[in-house]
Amino acid sequence: MFTIKVDDEIELGLLEERHAPALFELTDRNREHLREWLPWVDGTTSLEDSRTFIRVSLETFSYNNGFPVGIWYQGYLAGCIAYHYFAWNTRRTEIGYWLGQEFSGKGIITRAARKLIEYGFGELGLNRIEIRCAPGNLKSRAIPERLGFTREGILRQVGIIHDGIVVDMVIYGLLVDEWAAKQVKP
Ligand SMILES: CC(C)(COP(=O)(O)OP(=O)(O)OC[C@H]1O[C@@H](n2cnc3c(N)ncnc32)[C@H](O)[C@@H]1OP(=O)(O)O)[C@@H](O)C(=O)NCCC(=O)NCCS
Repeated sequence: MFTIKVDDEIELGLLEERHAPALFELTDRNREHLREWLPWVDGTTSLEDSRTFIRVSLETFSYNNGFPVGIWYQGYLAGCIAYHYFAWNTRRTEIGYWLGQEFSGKGIITRAARKLIEYGFGELGLNRIEIRCAPGNLKSRAIPERLGFTREGILRQVGIIHDGIVVDMVIYGLLVDEWAAKQVKP
């Protein structure tokens, strides 16, 4: 399995079909927590849905079209983080993430995203990474703000949340040069 070690507690790894029960159980247990901001939660009603997600994720990875991985915290599947796509002509991508509620408040996404950014700029040669958040999703917005992204503006009515509600999205961007400049600061 392809893995990236974040630190002593966190590991990112490709989800395989054998992880489907754990993934479905995590999603099902956190339905109320996740559905407010993630439109796919209500449509994930069976183990087969989680299997399909994993199959599509593996395909996306194998075609070099994105990078969806599971997050393991102290050996437990805690959530997912992804590069949703790669626009190779502009070397640009977008990060998305979610966590089971019991794993929140520990800096897991902040640490995982920081590592994924390092991998994206360092290993994959990306130039620009975006994070899009609904204006009211303050926990999600705190991630790019903590990681030094620039708040670039608001895209009107491009996002979808629970019950098919269409919302604006705050767009955050980080460029490789900005990230590199931060790495050499004391
Ligand atoms: C968005 C979401 C992933 C954020 O989770 P989170 O736990 O707040 O984020 P992190 O894992 O980075 O943890 C940050 C918290 O841990 C604390 N923390 C502890 N140790 C930390 C560390 N080493 N580094 C950073 N933060 C740390 C921070 O202070 C912060 O707590 P606070 O919110 O009380 O200030 C989570 O709320 C979620 O899954 N929401 C539903 C799905 C969703 O909205 N996804 C995003 C769609 S755009």
